[in-house]
Amino acid sequence: MSTIDSILTENRVFPPSDDFRRRARVSGREAYDALCAEAATDYEGFWGRQAREQLAWHKPFTQVLDESDAPFYRWFHDGELNVSHNCIDRHLPLLANKVALIFESDNGTVRRVTYAELSRLVGRFANGLKSLGVTKGDRVIVYMPMSIEAVVAMQACARLGAIHSVVFGGFSAKSLNERIIDAKARLVITANAGIRGGKVVPLKTTTDEAVAMGGCDSLERVVVYRRAEEKDAPIEWHRGRDLWWHDLVADKPDVCEPTWVGADDPLFILYTSGSTGKPKGVQHSSAGYLLGAVNSMNWVFDYKPDDIFWCTADVGWITGHSYVAYGPLAVGGTQVIFEGVPTYPDAGRFWQMIERHKVSIFYTAPTAIRSLIKLGGDLPKRHDLSSLRLLGTVGEPINPEAWMWYHEQVGGGRCPIVDTWWQTETGSHMLAPLPGAIATKPGSCTLPLPGIMADIVDETGAKVETGGGFLVITRPFPSQVRTLWGDPERFKKSYFPEEYQGRYYLAGDSAHRDDDGYFWIMGRIDDVLNVSGHRLGTMEVESALVANPLVAEAAVVGRPDPLKGEAIVAFVVLKGARPSGEEGKRIIADLREWVAKEIGAIAKPEDIRFGDNLPKTRSGKIMRRLLRAIARGETITQDVSTLENPAILQQLQESV
Ligand code: WTA
Repeated sequence: MSTIDSILTENRVFPPSDDFRRRARVSGREAYDALCAEAATDYEGFWGRQAREQLAWHKPFTQVLDESDAPFYRWFHDGELNVSHNCIDRHLPLLANKVALIFESDNGTVRRVTYAELSRLVGRFANGLKSLGVTKGDRVIVYMPMSIEAVVAMQACARLGAIHSVVFGGFSAKSLNERIIDAKARLVITANAGIRGGKVVPLKTTTDEAVAMGGCDSLERVVVYRRAEEKDAPIEWHRGRDLWWHDLVADKPDVCEPTWVGADDPLFILYTSGSTGKPKGVQHSSAGYLLGAVNSMNWVFDYKPDDIFWCTADVGWITGHSYVAYGPLAVGGTQVIFEGVPTYPDAGRFWQMIERHKVSIFYTAPTAIRSLIKLGGDLPKRHDLSSLRLLGTVGEPINPEAWMWYHEQVGGGRCPIVDTWWQTETGSHMLAPLPGAIATKPGSCTLPLPGIMADIVDETGAKVETGGGFLVITRPFPSQVRTLWGDPERFKKSYFPEEYQGRYYLAGDSAHRDDDGYFWIMGRIDDVLNVSGHRLGTMEVESALVANPLVAEAAVVGRPDPLKGEAIVAFVVLKGARPSGEEGKRIIADLREWVAKEIGAIAKPEDIRFGDNLPKTRSGKIMRRLLRAIARGETITQDVSTLENPAILQQLQESV
């Protein structure tokens, strides 16, 4: 493991204040240790107690964990419940008039929805879906802007036991097409437009393009929410297929009885990048997934009934599932939902909104923090941020300097920061400080949550005591990915490799532990990029490039980027001659646009280099390490004697 070395030494430690600790749900280190000890002594007893106490069951379970078909673990499987019932009905009538959602639109208008109203919105839409024949187990694609309706759509699916698959609104028609096909979706729910940073995002038109690409035989209907005036968002209408949201719900009753589902029945599929071309359909269960969301709301966010919670993630990512659509509602919380972008109308938007809505818990990504420092590091000072009591980060390691800025400038030095490590596949937080119990260190996600058995191992599965290694979770946990949709073999191969006798969940990240047992994430171990906190497979970007008629071959690597975390650098071999000058510049611009169209704007390469060939080993494997060194502008110290044409290194170092 000599290749994974830690270069970061960080000695600052921030214990919780006495005041924070006293009021915290898990108060003091002993309380955290006691929970961990309970889980260590009686693992199933611990999780059984959590599931009984934290979730509302229609039919109680009798078995906590069924390992008979490992690694397809089933949690609480003979119990029955409904996730939407847990998020809405169980809070009524007590919290009927409590605000559930505070929606702020791109241009600043605000709409509040109470639990009673949310219940009616979800009930009517669920009845609408039902009238279209949607039933338990059907797949529904949600391709929506950040909105109350996006949450309503997800909750309505959950209410019927239908399986939603949310596709991030920034993804292209091609990506949407692949997901409709893979999930065999009957329905797409979209909007005539999304509005972000003053710009119209043509979601419905993109949906039409996706369907026109063919193969979507399962698709019956497209439901369109009218976000923008029709004159501002012209769309085509496909009679018999397209249907306005408002027409669908017009004559529907407010009440829709929840469909009871098995604890282990799928709640949703969310596609995420793996190291091979095809996205993985990460499938989550109902009860285990929800338990993870609820426990982390309580443990990590220390949620209290009078909190105003704001997670800035889009519902298109797992963070927007667990900490927008489900977690905050499952605990009966009030949360802010934001349609726009952090830099519009200026880089003070987040701080202005925290002041306006008196946000007490704020959860965002390091990439957003870094860009806000750059665009307006002094802006937080201009706002009253005294309502804040807790800050969080997710998506990538946060560099200690950004952590300190967040702590001082946003948190006024008084708010603990919870750096939460987790993944689409883990469903909820795995490593994160319980803020009233664990002292934090800038850049470390600290310790596992109670009941999460995290460890670091080498390539043989042996425990690594000091130094870096592979991060694994050694026992199944309730919110763990249940399988990959339609591909159980890939599920086993990806997460329970044979080297570990299929016992450990392999996260795909490297990490090391310090003397206090704190975890420090070091990065991905596979060919997956982390761009602005979003996982992208190098293969996906490469496939997109090669799909362009000009391109013969392409290799993509990441280069550290101060704002995005990683920026994409593409090495491209054209079918024709290696271009230069104006022609080269034009092709670069075309290829960047091409990738944006194929996958989405987040996947646009920052830099494209042309070569007559790519550096390969004798066995024909692309020498990615070499390309990474070139992308970073480093001098090449590796052995390149096996290269057939060493001159190409020179070419690949040159920009057009
Ligand atoms: C990275 C997002 C360091 C990590 C919830 C992980 C992090 C991948 C952190 C999952 C963190 C997420 N510190 N790295 N606090 N949080 N990551 O599936 O590489 O979009 O494997 O889930 O993001 O990305 P995903």
